Amino acid sequence: MKRILSGMQPTSQLHLGNYLGALKNWVAFQDDPNAQCLYCVVDLHAITASYEAANLANATREIAAAYIAAGIDPDKSSIFVQSSIPEHSQLMWLLATMAQMGKLERMTQFKDKAGKNAERAGLGLFAYPVLMAADILIYKATHVPVGEDQKQHLELARDLASTFNTRYGVDFFPQPEPVIAGVAPRVMSLRDGTQKMSKSADSDMTRINLTDTPDMIAKKIKKAKTDAEPLPENLAGLDGRPEALNLITLYAALADKSKEEVLLHFAGKQFGQFKPEFIDLAVEKLSPITTRMNEFMDDPAQIDSILSDGSEKARSIASEVLAKTQEIMGFYS
Ligand code: TRP
Repeated sequence: MKRILSGMQPTSQLHLGNYLGALKNWVAFQDDPNAQCLYCVVDLHAITASYEAANLANATREIAAAYIAAGIDPDKSSIFVQSSIPEHSQLMWLLATMAQMGKLERMTQFKDKAGKNAERAGLGLFAYPVLMAADILIYKATHVPVGEDQKQHLELARDLASTFNTRYGVDFFPQPEPVIAGVAPRVMSLRDGTQKMSKSADSDMTRINLTDTPDMIAKKIKKAKTDAEPLPENLAGLDGRPEALNLITLYAALADKSKEEVLLHFAGKQFGQFKPEFIDLAVEKLSPITTRMNEFMDDPAQIDSILSDGSEKARSIASEVLAKTQEIMGFYS
């Protein structure tokens, strides 16, 4: 039996990269009869960077709304908020005693986020990967869908699982496997095919947000950077053409086709012919998600009730794993 766990931070705008790189794959996993899926909104991670306290609860609901709108079914998967399960933080402390400072110092995300002034970075930012390991191990998750940029954190979770097992002479925590899934694990900017699509990019024209209207989607695709060549008939023909490769990848992921199939359809055509079809496809696939997300946001009570059911299911696993961990570690009870 697989246990799949993943999470997203409640920080601003979700975009096409979050949908194609993560959510769309999460939806597919819940139809695996051998998998149990747990999807959380990782609000405790969000507060490791500066954030608006007045917005946190709503941003948390919005991510949950996006999960459900994208097709995560609360009857099949548990959807919950990280901070409502105190066992995540409790296990984090236990794991923190086994996490080596030297390994945490080598985390590239910490180095990027702390920047030049690492001395002033908060302990929470430094310990971020330990909390992430706790998110995973508190459910004994076996599979963790993540982006490339999170693989190093997952390596630390695997390391902590085996350190624990070795130190206490048990075979308790499984080794969580990273799952890099889908046709479009890396979605690039519409303006520069060598940069990741990102919520922090200055220009909104670089990304398609899950809240964009059909008009905005059309405008952004029309203005997306391309090159002067017609589309090739095979993947090799996209070498050295990062923007063309990105657009074909996005089309393929949205259409549930392979890139090869998409190229066969467009071979020899110009972007002037490709773009209108791409706009229709993007609007067809994304508009229903945006509409559902808005409907959910208009009915926060419904989101809250889904989150409360989800956390009940998650907590029953987490409390058992924590109790067993404490027992193995020799705590008084
Ligand atoms: N660090 C992850 C990210 O920024 C989010 C995250 C936190 C996560 N806890 C997790 C992802 C546990 C997978 C499993 O993308």
